[in-house]
Amino acid sequence: MTTAGVAGGRVRPAPDGSEDERLGAAVALVGRENTYVTTTTFRIDGELEVRRLGFGAMRLPTEPGPAREASLAVVRRAVELGVTLIDTAYLYGWGANEELLAEALYPYPEGVLITTKVGIARSGPAGEWKLDGRPAVLRDQVEQALRRLRVDRIELLQLHRIDPETPLEDQLGTLRDLQSEGKIGRIGLSEVTVDELQQARAVVDVVSVQNRYNMLDREHDPVLAACETAGIAFLPWHPVAMGAAGANGEIATVAAELDATPTQVALAWLLDRSPVVLPIPGTSRTSHLEENLAAERVRLGPTHRDRLDRLSGPARNGEAEE
Ligand SMILES: NC(=O)c1ccc[n+]([C@@H]2O[C@H](COP(=O)([O-])OP(=O)(O)OC[C@H]3O[C@@H](n4cnc5c(N)ncnc54)[C@H](OP(=O)(O)O)[C@@H]3O)[C@@H](O)[C@H]2O)c1
Repeated sequence: MTTAGVAGGRVRPAPDGSEDERLGAAVALVGRENTYVTTTTFRIDGELEVRRLGFGAMRLPTEPGPAREASLAVVRRAVELGVTLIDTAYLYGWGANEELLAEALYPYPEGVLITTKVGIARSGPAGEWKLDGRPAVLRDQVEQALRRLRVDRIELLQLHRIDPETPLEDQLGTLRDLQSEGKIGRIGLSEVTVDELQQARAVVDVVSVQNRYNMLDREHDPVLAACETAGIAFLPWHPVAMGAAGANGEIATVAAELDATPTQVALAWLLDRSPVVLPIPGTSRTSHLEENLAAERVRLGPTHRDRLDRLSGPARNGEAEE
């Protein structure tokens, strides 16, 4: 197996095309308290195998021109480096982000899972949005996603938010109908509490949860624990908190000791946290992408883990939800 070079204060990505970069590379990391051994892959719903370190496409510029070309290159590079889980949503550019991913990757290489989200609708001309889980809206957004992503079926469809003004049974019932029709494969949730997760699981099989979570923001620890117990994939969004890890002195110190970057330490901590955690860091830069994927090779020992576990910061890190 190729091992990452360590130089210049960061764990470097492995060379292009090496087996080590591909899905299935068995980088065995000793997990917490000998309770498990984490690997680089996870089977969503016991079936859909993805590399645990995925990619979030939300912040990629989509407007025509050099910025779009750069976005396409980042997405293609992610897949080239073995990323198989890519997260998008109707909300991200009202479908423009989904279209960008299709342009970058269609026809999709085998094993690549593009997961999208529905349930937030435009409510004003200046990009205002609102939660909207009415059945017709969910159905329409799924139909649009199928067209934009150029697929017959969305293997993992996530409800972006539970709409408090629409009965949960109606929202999930619509997704279940779409599942019966073969238009979606599996159902995930986003930004839910443990109670909401349990209520939803009484209606449909839930295979993934996407909540805001990172080393400095662990409000959703109980949800992560519930997911781990049930074997549900937990996709922490905002995993590197906009690269803010470096601003934390302890993280920067640990990073220096491990010859890694603070962002790599933030991702390594997430991967180490639980085998069901599938981080989806976003970046518009190839250099950051390569740096982030190399976090898989950062080994946290018990001492570093304990020091990082003791950290926690402001609940929101000053960031708005999207
Ligand atoms: N379900 C939800 O409600 C929800 C909400 C928000 C996001 N999401 C999903 O989660 C994904 C990630 O969330 P996020 O974008 O909010 O948070 P994030 O991945 O923690 O942060 C992304 C930001 O961090 C910067 N960054 C990435 N790698 C870096 C590195 N190595 N060094 C320094 N800076 C780095 C990026 O800037 P550069 O471009 O300059 O690298 C980007 O602006 C999104 O793409 C989206 O798919 C879901």
